[in-house]
Amino acid sequence: MSRKPIVAGNWKMNLDRTKARELAAAVAARRGEAAAVDLVLCPPAVYVETVGTTLAGSGSDVGLGAQNMLDKAGGAYTGEIAPPMLVDLGCDYVILGHSERRTLFGETDSAVNVKAKAALAAGLVPIVCVGETLEEREAGRTAAVVTAQVQGSLAGIPAGDLEKVVVAYEPVWAIGTGKVATPEQAQEVHALIRGLLAKLASPEVAGRVRIQYGGSVKPDNAADLARQPDIDGALVGGASLKADDFLGIARAFA
Ligand code: 13P
Repeated sequence: MSRKPIVAGNWKMNLDRTKARELAAAVAARRGEAAAVDLVLCPPAVYVETVGTTLAGSGSDVGLGAQNMLDKAGGAYTGEIAPPMLVDLGCDYVILGHSERRTLFGETDSAVNVKAKAALAAGLVPIVCVGETLEEREAGRTAAVVTAQVQGSLAGIPAGDLEKVVVAYEPVWAIGTGKVATPEQAQEVHALIRGLLAKLASPEVAGRVRIQYGGSVKPDNAADLARQPDIDGALVGGASLKADDFLGIARAFA
C-alpha cells in the first residue's frame, strides 16, 4: 500500500507576521526539493491569512493548516474559531488534540472526536494527535494510552471519512526535548495505530491512512524514521521554524 508522505510544520505560538510571511515564502520557493511529499504549514491562527496569501501567491501547492478550532459553525463562543472560518481563509488541514491542547487546555478524547467530525464536515483534514507521557511509557502503559486515545478521538467516523484523517503519533516525552523516539519505538506504536484503524474501519482503510511521527524530528534523524514501514511523514515543531531544517526533513521522506 503506497501512501503519499505528509510533512507538516506546527509553528505553535511562534514568529511574527513578517517572519511568518518570510518562512512561508521560503518553503514555497523550495517546495520542489520534496515534490513527492505533501507539505503543510500550520501557523498561529492570526497569521493563517498572511501565510495563505503568501502560499497562494507563490503558486505552490504547499498546504495550509490551523492548530486548533472549535466544533461549532458559529455563534457566541468568545475567542474561538469556527471550521468554516478556517476554510474561508484557505485552510486544508487542522491539527486537533495536540498534547499541548490536551495537557494545558484540558482537551479530552471526546472533545477531539467532536472536533474531528466537525472538521471533516467542513471539508478540513484533521491531523489528530495522540501520544503517551514519559510516566505512562515507564509504567508500560503506552499501548493502552494510545489505544484509548485513537479509539476515543476517532469513534464513529465513517470509513469514507476516516481514510482522509491524518494521525500524528507524538510521544509527549519527545516533544521539544531533543529526545526523539527510536525508529523502532515509533514503528511499534505506528503499527499498533494502524491495527486499531483496521478494527475501526477495515484493513484497506487503515492502509490508506497516513500516520505521522512527531517529537524532536530533525534533518539528521528523519531518514531513519522515514525508513519505517508505518511512518508516513512527520509533524514538526521546532525544526519547522527554519526553512532549511523543515525541507531537510521533508527530503528525507521524499
Ligand atoms: P518538536 O518538533 O519541537 O519536538 O515538536 C513536536 C510537536 O509537538 C509537533 O506538533
